[in-house]
Amino acid sequence: MARVDVIRVKGGARLAGDVTVVGAKNSALKLMAVALLAEGRTVVANVPRITDVAIMGEVLRRLGCGVSFDGGEALIDVPAEPGSEADYDLVRRLRASICVLGPLLARRGYVRVALPGGDMIGSRGLDMHVAGLARLGAQITGEHGFVIASAPNGLRGAKIWLDFPSVGATENILMAAVLAKGVTEIDNAAREPEIVDICQMLTTMGARIEGAGTSTLTIEGVDALKPIRHATVGDRIVGGTWAFATAMTRGDVTVHGVRPEYLEIALDKLVSAGAVVEPGDNCFRVRMDDRPKAVDIVTLPYPGFATDLLPMALGLAAVSSGSSLITENIFDGRFMFVNEMVRLGADIRTDGHHAVTNGRERLSGAPVRATDIRAGAGLVIAGLCADGVTEVGEVHHIDRGYPDFVSDLANLGVEVERAVVTEPTFDFS
Ligand code: EPU
Repeated sequence: MARVDVIRVKGGARLAGDVTVVGAKNSALKLMAVALLAEGRTVVANVPRITDVAIMGEVLRRLGCGVSFDGGEALIDVPAEPGSEADYDLVRRLRASICVLGPLLARRGYVRVALPGGDMIGSRGLDMHVAGLARLGAQITGEHGFVIASAPNGLRGAKIWLDFPSVGATENILMAAVLAKGVTEIDNAAREPEIVDICQMLTTMGARIEGAGTSTLTIEGVDALKPIRHATVGDRIVGGTWAFATAMTRGDVTVHGVRPEYLEIALDKLVSAGAVVEPGDNCFRVRMDDRPKAVDIVTLPYPGFATDLLPMALGLAAVSSGSSLITENIFDGRFMFVNEMVRLGADIRTDGHHAVTNGRERLSGAPVRATDIRAGAGLVIAGLCADGVTEVGEVHHIDRGYPDFVSDLANLGVEVERAVVTEPTFDFS
C-alpha cells in the first residue's frame, strides 16, 4: 500500500472573514534567481512557504550558494563564482528553475541547464528564451536533454522582439541584459506585476532599467550589481483564488496582502457576476449575496485575465445561473482538469481552447485528482459548492503554490481536513 495526502472538504460553507496572502510564488522564485547576479548575501523577504521555493533553494545550493529560510525570508549567500549547471532531477520538479539560465550566463559566461519538458498544462516551449539570449551574443546548443549557452566574450546589448509577451523569456533576457555591455531593448515584453517586482529588485541592486510594467523594457548594462534585501510582491493569483471562492460560496471575505489593481479584470468579472467588490490599500473585500450570474471570460497576458485563474473561472461558471464561454489563450493543456470538474457534476464541454459551461445550482461531492497547482485549488473550491464531501488527491500540486491552504479555508469557516490515505499498489506477486 502507498500512503498519499488528500484534502477533504465539506460543501455548503459560506466563506467569511479575513485572509492574508503572502509573496507571489512566481515572483519569489525569480527573485531568488536574481540573487545570483551579485556576490554576497541577498535577502528575499515575504517568501511563501511552498514546495517550489524549497526546491529553488536546493537549485541555488547546488550552484554553490548558501541558502537558509528564516521567518518568511530567504537568505542567499552567493559566491564569487557560482556553479553553472542545473540538473534534470531538480529542473523537472520545478520548471521555473530555467530562470537561472539568464543570470548564470551573465555571471559565468557559460551555463548548462536541463530542459524542463512539458507539463500538465501544456507543452511550454523555450524558443523565445533561446532566441533572446542568442541576440545578446550567446551561442546556444542543446544536447542530451540540456540547453547549453556560452558567451566567452561577454554579452552585448541588442534589440529583441518577442513573438509573444512570455513571462519566462522576458525574465531570462532581462536578467542577462543587466550585466551585458550596452543597451538592450525588449519589445513586446511581459508586463506582469511579478516582472515589475524583478525590475524593482534589480534597480535597487544597481541595474539601469526603464519601462517596467510596459511592453518595452530598456536596459543599460552595468559592470556589477550589489546584494540587497527585497520584499516579494503579494500573490495576486492566491488573492484571486480567494476572491472567486468567496463569490462562488456567496461569502464575504477581505483579502489582505494583494493590490486590487493587479486583479482588475478578474475582480471586474466578479462584479459582473453580481459580487460587491471594495478595493482598499493592499487589500480588497468581496461579498456575494445571490447565486452568481454567468459571465464569459477570456485569458490573456497581463493585464488580461490571468490563465492561472482559469480553474477558478470554470468553477464560478459551473455554479452560475446561465451559460458561460471560457476561452484559454496561453496554455494548450489548461483544460486537462475539466474531466475532474465533470466528476463533480459540472456541465462543461470543451472544444479546442473554448469551454462552454451550463451552470448548476449545486455540484456533487466526489473523489477527484489535482493535475496542477491551480487545478488543484480550483477543485477544492468547487468542492465548497458541492453536496457532501469532495476528496482531492495529488495535493502535492497544491503544496507547490498555496501556503497554509487548509488552515486558511478552516479560518474562513470551511469544514476541511488534510488526511493521509493508503492506496493499493499492484504487482505480479
Ligand atoms: N512559450 C513559448 N516559447 C517560449 C516561451 C513561452 O512557446 O520561449 C509559450 C508557452 O508554451 C506558453 C506561453 O508561451 O504557451 C506563455 O508562457 P510564459 O513564458 O508566459 O509562461 P511561463 O513563464 O512558463 C509563468 C508562470 C505560470 C503562468 C505563466 C503565464 C512561473 C514560474 N510560471 O510561466 O504560472 O501561468 O507565466 O502567466 O512564473 C502557475 O503558477 O501555476 C503557473 C503555471
